[in-house]
Amino acid sequence: MKRPGLLAALAAVAGVGAALDYGAPDPESQAPLAVGGKRRLVSSELLQDAISGEKLFARAKELYEIAKLGEEEYNRPTRVIGSEGHLGTLLYIHSALADLGDYYNLSSQSFPAVVGNVFESRLVIADRLAESAEPMSLTPPTEYREPVSGDVVLVENDGCDLTDYPAHVRGNIALVRRGTCSFGKKSGNAGKSGAVAAVIYNHESGTVHGTLGQPSPDHVATFGLSREEADGVIARLRRGESVDATAFVDAEVKTVETHNLVAQTAAGDPENCVMLGGHSDSVADGPGINDDGSGSLSLVEVAAQLARFDVRNCVRFAWWAAEEEGLLGSDFYVASLSPEENRRIRVFMDFDMLASPNFAYQVYNATNDAHPVGSQELRDLYVRWYEARGLPYTFIPFDGRSDYDGFIRHGIPAGGIATGAEGVKTEEEAALFGGRAGEWYDPCYHQLCDDLSNVNVTAWEINTKLVAHAVAHFAVSFEGFPERSDAVVADDGAGTYGQRVRYHGSRLFV
Ligand SMILES: *[C@@H]1O[C@H](CO)[C@@H](O)[C@H](O)[C@H]1NC(C)=O
Ligand SMILES: *[C@@H]1O[C@H](CO)[C@@H](O)[C@H](O)[C@H]1NC(C)=O
Ligand SMILES: *[C@@H]1O[C@H](CO)[C@@H](O)[C@H](O)[C@H]1NC(C)=O
Ligand SMILES: [Zn+2]
Repeated sequence: MKRPGLLAALAAVAGVGAALDYGAPDPESQAPLAVGGKRRLVSSELLQDAISGEKLFARAKELYEIAKLGEEEYNRPTRVIGSEGHLGTLLYIHSALADLGDYYNLSSQSFPAVVGNVFESRLVIADRLAESAEPMSLTPPTEYREPVSGDVVLVENDGCDLTDYPAHVRGNIALVRRGTCSFGKKSGNAGKSGAVAAVIYNHESGTVHGTLGQPSPDHVATFGLSREEADGVIARLRRGESVDATAFVDAEVKTVETHNLVAQTAAGDPENCVMLGGHSDSVADGPGINDDGSGSLSLVEVAAQLARFDVRNCVRFAWWAAEEEGLLGSDFYVASLSPEENRRIRVFMDFDMLASPNFAYQVYNATNDAHPVGSQELRDLYVRWYEARGLPYTFIPFDGRSDYDGFIRHGIPAGGIATGAEGVKTEEEAALFGGRAGEWYDPCYHQLCDDLSNVNVTAWEINTKLVAHAVAHFAVSFEGFPERSDAVVADDGAGTYGQRVRYHGSRLFV
């Protein structure tokens, strides 16, 4: 099969093709299960039987070698977008699929990913350093990357409307309450009103780890602030006192060209696709073997095993790039679908972190009340599978932290499973799943130590069998699964689904 020119070019540019030896595919395990010269129809049982933790871990070892390609530039193994570790990951996935002949139609989708780096930042209010101030991800710098000073001006309501911004915010620093609309909208409104910086204070306890999302020329340097620190300032402003502040952000927002990979079965009804995805990139701080090496390799292995079978419905696998920069690849993909293409996707399943060392079996609590109809049926399919095996599970919020977000915002039913990131395991969960209460599910989340020692292969194998089950189930039939309704136009956080989605990626968005 002819490789798309783009990836061949990437291989040449990055010089990674030569550095990697993928090995020949194992002919026995890859042989089609044929009846009378034709591939046999897939079944859940057969596809699950083909999944083994050993094969998954063998792939993880290859992925770790690939992450090392990032060492020269980053001084550590990484698969962050723009790195050779990420290009190597794309080539690895592409090559694994290309080895399957013409079973899949492979395509790559290039897009510009916005990457933000904050080098230094400081917020001083009334001569005191604001301890809880955190620059928002993708914030622009303050003007000339120099400190800017002005009065703190309290914005009315939630700052979602330009009329909430008093005239004297011009040349000063806007103080805006969190809530109702996205941080990006508030920052843009502050900018349009002439503010030199914006501070968004929390409506609940603690500081705000937020992102402005898609950059806009209207954005100004923006910080999150804890409610505790904001309370005193607001009280003074309400008494009519003036409070001055100095904001400083030295940051860059740059664009990196990166790539989604998509593989669709040539067989199966193309009007009715089950789609599933994981993210191919890691953060810059580490190799991302659990996040999301585990999910992306589960997909590679399921795709490889599925190729021995026939399918009735189309199966479409995706490996998103720039998930760690704020779900950019999946957003780009969903936004690029025409309404007709959107409707061909009957369901989307997200698999981000399937092998956390201190794992819980987590099912996204997607419901038909709060999410596109069909999301709940998918949730219940996972639940039934765990229950049938006597395995425990918990529901976790389906709140926008991974690549399903673009799908639900565009009306596509979605869901998924995970094993936990920086959340803390409770005593009750430790009793159910084993592991250590009071510690993170993934103690190496977004760190250098997310390496080969950071996966629990038992959990990984079990969850990959569940991925296989769900794929086989829908590849055979959508009977009883709700028909698709129309595509919806996405919003910035104020629409039907947006109101219920707090996150966009690992950072808060609203
Ligand atoms: C393969 O996928 C690409 C991109 O989605 C599409 O343009 C092309 O028509 C597909 N080719 C086949 C043979 O289905
Ligand atoms: C799941 O979501 C539903 C409604 O969206 C809610 O009523 C229920 O409490 C949630 N369950 C858990 C365990 O979070
Ligand atoms: C993985 O999890 C299983 C099941 O809880 C446990 O028995 C095993 O010891 C764990 N493996 C590692 C390497 O921690
Ligand atoms: Zn992830």
